[in-house]
Amino acid sequence: MSKSTTISTPGKLMLFGEHSVVYGNPCIVTAVGQRMQAKVTLSGDGTLQIDAPDVHLEEYRKEVSDLGIGDIPKGAKFVEVAVKNLFEKYSVSSGVHVSTQSQFSSKLGFGSSSASTVCVMKALSVLMHLDLPNKEIFDIAYKTVLDVQGKGSGFDIAAAVYGGTLLYQNGGEVIESLEIADIPLIVAYSGVKADTVTLVNGVAALHEKDSQKINGIFEEITQIVGKAKEALQDSDWKTSGALMNENQELLTQLEVSTPKLDAMISAARGAGAYGAKLSGAGGGDCIIALAPKDKTDEVSKAITQAGGEVLTVIVNVTGAKIVE
Ligand code: MEV
Repeated sequence: MSKSTTISTPGKLMLFGEHSVVYGNPCIVTAVGQRMQAKVTLSGDGTLQIDAPDVHLEEYRKEVSDLGIGDIPKGAKFVEVAVKNLFEKYSVSSGVHVSTQSQFSSKLGFGSSSASTVCVMKALSVLMHLDLPNKEIFDIAYKTVLDVQGKGSGFDIAAAVYGGTLLYQNGGEVIESLEIADIPLIVAYSGVKADTVTLVNGVAALHEKDSQKINGIFEEITQIVGKAKEALQDSDWKTSGALMNENQELLTQLEVSTPKLDAMISAARGAGAYGAKLSGAGGGDCIIALAPKDKTDEVSKAITQAGGEVLTVIVNVTGAKIVE
């Protein structure tokens, strides 16, 4: 019997519908080629051991019987609570050693915590012969995210589990794979690490103050997501870009854009992109732009001049998979 397995999961990029998705509305997310990898080994020593050098965590150890109890360092939280939740739900237990390795910096907003949570769930499912279907892995990984950070729509968990490009809604009630050809997407980092929970709380405060107005914005975003689903599947990049611009306008009304993001977005549009918007929580992280192939260089250059860092990102990649 194998006691060790290595799982790889993709990061994610939000294409349309951020923030609105937190309120049960749809969004479109794509899985990216920057991946998280975790080697998980069952041991007989009754402890959870985590090595995650990317988040400066080395040789973290905890008795399995104490999982979730006491202070947990930030870098260990998702993995520890993931193991605890899986053990509790399926009435299993073992010593476990988890060693994670990321191909991307956690500052980019590509969803490293969700990706590592899914790695651990999938690995334990394999090693403990639970053979959990994707939806079970999704549900227990999403519960873990809610346990740790209290908030989140779960779209990033869905991207890590299923991969591809997904229409996602309502805590995973809808997870629909979209057939999408090569998207001419440009991705650029703003240089600022955003704190998702703070931004989600900011939108919640606006919602509390004027729920009618904010629900109206969510309604418009929902319409955009519906149209974007069709446009993306038709490879209609011009319409998709125009919808990105509309989505960005509504995100500005939700007060999650920043002058830096605005500058990068307008530079992309000015250099010939079909459209551009922030991707994710806002406040920093990345922007995305859709541009005609022959304008890629010009658009990338303009974004760089506006202070952005253009990243090489492959989208629509496979979900959680066993590497060995
Ligand atoms: C953050 O990447 C996207 C948000 O919609 C939060 C979430 O969906 O969990 C702002």
